[in-house]
Amino acid sequence: MELLQHVLLFLHLLGWAIVLGGTIVTMRDTRLPRGALHGILTALVTGILMVGLASASDELRDPNTTKVAVKLVVALVVTGLVVYGARRPEKVTKGLLGAVLGLTVLNVGIAVLWR
Ligand code: HEM
Repeated sequence: MELLQHVLLFLHLLGWAIVLGGTIVTMRDTRLPRGALHGILTALVTGILMVGLASASDELRDPNTTKVAVKLVVALVVTGLVVYGARRPEKVTKGLLGAVLGLTVLNVGIAVLWR
């Protein structure tokens, strides 16, 4: 169970790292990076699976519900922005990319600093 949780955390970190790194690289061209949609969906799905697994297991520490709920809302906003930008590339602005980047950084901060 613990191994599965670690594998999910590994994929979780890769998922949002793709969004974060990609957006920094494409900011100047004002376009979404390739893989941003896959990256954020990976972070979202693995995050939800980790919460489910931890809640269902006796061995794993229960997740902090408030922290996870805040992260979920932030991640859903990022997902909405990325889906919108992927469907309408001509509507992608520096503001949209900045919001994707800023909210992803915010979620890293929440994940690491909220104890
Ligand atoms: C942009 C979206 C997200 C980012 C940037 C992000 C960032 C992170 C980071 C940096 C960690 C490692 C922290 C640590 O292990 O101390 C982490 C772990 C974790 N994340 Fe996320 N996350 C995101 C979305 C989500 C979502 C949507 C959920 C669930 C609804 C979630 C649930 C978790 C869980 C359960 C862990 C395991 C460690 C813990 O209990 O805090 N994450 N996330």
